[in-house]
Parts: sequence; C-alpha cells; structure tokens
Amino acid sequence: MARTATSVQDRGEIAGDWDRGGSGLSAEATEFADAVLCGLGRRPRSIPSRFLYDDTGSALFEDITRLEEYYPTRTEMALLRTHGPEIAFCAGPVETLVEFGSGSSRKTGLLIEALRNLRTYIPIDVSESFLTDAAARLQRDHAKLTVRPMVGDFTKARDLNGIGAERPLGFFSGSTIGNLTHDEAVAFLDNAARLLGSGSAFLIGVDLEKSLDILIPAYDDARGVTAAFSLNLLSRINRELGGDFDTGRFAHRALYNGRAGRIEIYLESLADQTVEVLGERFDFANGERIHTENSHKYSIGGFQSLARRAGWLPMRVWTDKDNLFSLHLLRRP
Ligand code: TRP
Repeated sequence: MARTATSVQDRGEIAGDWDRGGSGLSAEATEFADAVLCGLGRRPRSIPSRFLYDDTGSALFEDITRLEEYYPTRTEMALLRTHGPEIAFCAGPVETLVEFGSGSSRKTGLLIEALRNLRTYIPIDVSESFLTDAAARLQRDHAKLTVRPMVGDFTKARDLNGIGAERPLGFFSGSTIGNLTHDEAVAFLDNAARLLGSGSAFLIGVDLEKSLDILIPAYDDARGVTAAFSLNLLSRINRELGGDFDTGRFAHRALYNGRAGRIEIYLESLADQTVEVLGERFDFANGERIHTENSHKYSIGGFQSLARRAGWLPMRVWTDKDNLFSLHLLRRP
C-alpha cells in the first residue's frame, strides 16, 4: 500500500485534506505518515516511540525483555513474585485492576494471583490485536475474572466507559512511565487519578539510576536484538510508506544523557545519504541522528516527589537487593 509520488503531490494542492482525498491510506497509516514526514523534516529529527511497536517491533520487544542484559523485566517480575502478597495487603481489598498500556500479560498474571478479591480486569492499550490476545490468555487462566479490554491511548483515556470500577488499583509496569518526560509523567499521573478516582491505589514499576556498565548494555545488547528493534522503524517506513531507507547504512545508538538522567535512543546515519519517503527527499549527513526514545531513570525520592506533584501519596516501595528496579505503591487521598 505504498503511496505514490502523485498522491503526495495532491497533498500540496488540497492543503491538509490529503488524508481523506482517496489516498487509500487508513487513518492509522495517515497518522504514521504525518509523524514521519514531520519528524524527518524538523531539527533535531525525531519520530515518536510508539511507532516502534508494529507487529514485528512488538515481537522484537518481547525478545528484548528476555535478554540477559535487559534486567528490568525479570527484576520487576521477581519483585511481583516475592512481594505480591504484601503488595495486595497494602493495596487493600482491590476489586478492579486497571492496567495502563498493558504489555505482555506475564506480569499481570503474577499480580492477579496476589489480588484475592479481584473481580474485574480492565487492560487499556492502543493495539487492539495485542489487547485481544492478552485478554484471552488471562481469561483462560482466570476463569472467574471479568475481563473488559479498552482500546485507546492510555495517556488520554478520560473515563472507564461506564464500567463500574469498585476499589480500583492502577498498574503501570515496565518503567513505561520513564518513556515520558517529567512533565508528561505528571500529566499522566494526574489523568490516571481522575480515571481511577479518589481513594484508589496505583502500582508503578520504575527503573532506577545505576552504573552505565549495566545501563548501556540493557539498551544495546551484544546479540543486536535492540538494534534490530530500533532499525525495524526504518523497515516499517519502507514497508508502509514506500520509503527507501538502506538499513545497513544506519546504526542503533543508546546514549546516556546525565543532565536529563535518561537513556536516549537514536538511529544514526553512517554516511552522507539521501532517503525518499512518500516522494519527499531527506538528506542525512554522516553521523546525523533521528531521536526515537527516552528512558528516564529515577532515584526513589525523585520518583516520589514527581508522584506528589501529581497529587499521589507514596505508600510503599519495593526494590531488589541490587537496587536495579522499584515498584511504587501510591494512594490517592
Ligand atoms: N519501556 C522500555 C524501557 O524504557 C522501552 C525500551 C526498552 C526501549 N528497550 C528499548 C525503547 C530500546 C527503545 C529502544 O526500558
């Protein structure tokens, strides 16, 4: 479904109406096209990280979570396994679990097992296919649980579609909150508070500041799985938007920005080159980068003050013995 140069020309003529002008692009593809054309046109170049997660990207990300170097997933799962009963005790008699950006259901299963009073599980995710699969898997394992998936952007969801959420616990795992800027994270926490209601609890997985010897390989592994995940964005542009990126002439880069306290992910051009996407030409100098992701690392106190800024009270925090990862339980007064 590659767009042709002709339909790109139409775009200029019908000023802004091109997506409905019979281009044949779905709303989703149009959104991707807009983000890529804007993102490659601006300086510094950047493409929003959510576009990393098409089917291929999601499968590669699942591989990342099983890498030796990628400590967050296994550490967070161990925390849930070890402290599940205590988390459940502190959270109170939770009846509804609301999961934001429900990734794979592996972690959720551990939490569900610990929450003895749970009746309803509401996963919120943008990917409908992912939601359906995860929901079906959890439903199979927990026959008595009512599963009510909600398709949508979890940063924007305003209410629970009239689903009565009794004694809710929010769950946001994988340090996905670290992929937001501090201001975005506060806005997200604020919105989640409105969604969950006062008196609710929120369990959030947050990656911790640590030595670069551990941090960098987690985002740039020896087998190149993370590089493949990163570079898949360029292949996706080629597949879906008729781009002609030579993925052999770009490299995955994971750099630590100490001032901002975050890992930054880039795709770096390995040559002076010109790339065409949807009939538009983009010149890359050797070494020029496209920014695709941030992954903020927090201290325990740093994350707690961020939560307080959004009106949440820190209740408890669980960490592993090496202080790699933290699980924060917050309460909404
Ligand atoms: N939430 C994950 C994290 O920040 C996302 C992630 C892991 C990621 N590895 C990545 C994003 C590599 C882009 C590239 O840890």
